[in-house]
Amino acid sequence: MMGHVSEQTRISTRIGSIAESATLAVDAKAKSLKAQGRPVIGFGAGEPDFPTPDYVVQAAVDACSDPVNHRYSPAGGLPALKEAIVAKTRRDSGYAVEPANVLVTNGGKQAVYNTFAALLDPGDEVILPTPYWTTYPEAIRLAGGSPVEVFAGADAETAYLVTVEQLEAARTERTKALLFCSPSNPTGAVYPPEQVEAIGRWALEHGIWVITDEIYEHLLYDGAQAPSMPVLVPELADTCVVLNGVAKTYAMTGWRVGWMIGPQDVIKAATNLQSHATSNVANVSQRAAIAALEGSLDAVDEMKVAFDRRRTLMVDMLNVIEGVECPVPQGAFYAYPSVEGVLGKQIRGRTPQTSAELAALILDEVEVAVVPGEAFGPSGYLRLSYALGDEDLREGVGRIQALLGEAR
Ligand SMILES: Cc1ncc(COP(=O)(O)O)c(C=O)c1O
Repeated sequence: MMGHVSEQTRISTRIGSIAESATLAVDAKAKSLKAQGRPVIGFGAGEPDFPTPDYVVQAAVDACSDPVNHRYSPAGGLPALKEAIVAKTRRDSGYAVEPANVLVTNGGKQAVYNTFAALLDPGDEVILPTPYWTTYPEAIRLAGGSPVEVFAGADAETAYLVTVEQLEAARTERTKALLFCSPSNPTGAVYPPEQVEAIGRWALEHGIWVITDEIYEHLLYDGAQAPSMPVLVPELADTCVVLNGVAKTYAMTGWRVGWMIGPQDVIKAATNLQSHATSNVANVSQRAAIAALEGSLDAVDEMKVAFDRRRTLMVDMLNVIEGVECPVPQGAFYAYPSVEGVLGKQIRGRTPQTSAELAALILDEVEVAVVPGEAFGPSGYLRLSYALGDEDLREGVGRIQALLGEAR
């Protein structure tokens, strides 16, 4: 009899407590309104608005007709892709690793999941600079750990960068790891090299693991640099996991290829986990990733020109709005304005008290989709991706300007 299964026992506590990915939810809502013919402009997407380069697509087409790719391959990744990742890592960040230090994953997201699953025991704490990418705290909790948020706000002094002093204040006996992401999603902030090194030294001194997410490594502006932490602090290599993938650099979000680089015992444990969870990443995608990594960085250089132009346009347009303050992001493709000066004011008969309420108001009134700060930490902020066409960008931020200009 089905009626005997109570609501509480249908879904496990562990999985039932996972929040939906707010970024994907906003994107889905914008896309569905658009499909209904509404003139929605979506700033929610976390993906380049460019096609995957032709030579990468061709490599996949070729791979489709090779029967070797129709069969299971090693769970940890094709040896040729691991070699390409080793070569790319040496080329781009000067970090020397071996294929045994690499696990190929279903996107950077699975690398995040695998890493926390492989490292954390129940009760372990992970220091999480905030605002954070929305997946980190869920992956930490799923693995039994506790995220410990360390917040840095938008003001000129902090510009979304946490300090060693803040990290030290958050450290306890249970601190197992630090999550580090530069350039950052959602803020676009980039840590200066000396701060990367100082944070790495602090972690090393206290035996704290560092999980460093380098997925936006090539999307840098204004001459900013994003050196790899274990290159600046080589002694950290034994307690460091580097996360990366092809999604953002080669406009390959849908292909689902990422990787983690770490000490061999961690890679082996994570490979065991993956061998039961998903087995190998789709071979066709892995072959495409090999072509991407063995090719040039021309495609990302081209995207960067467009992103840089849109970044300036967006930040300038946001900063003229009263009550909005947007530090200039130096990496990735997101602007992260504080909207605290707008909250509590009346706009078209509504008085949003939180950024979630403001985002809902913006979508309802002017059909522009933005992701509220609640997806990434405290209320009071919005994330706008500038990975969309210049005209849409101008129109969308223009609508927000007009709407927030009515705040009284
Ligand atoms: C900071 C960060 N890390 C990792 C990822 C994972 O990307 P994917 O799983 O598409 O490779 C993303 C995607 O949005 C991201 O923003």
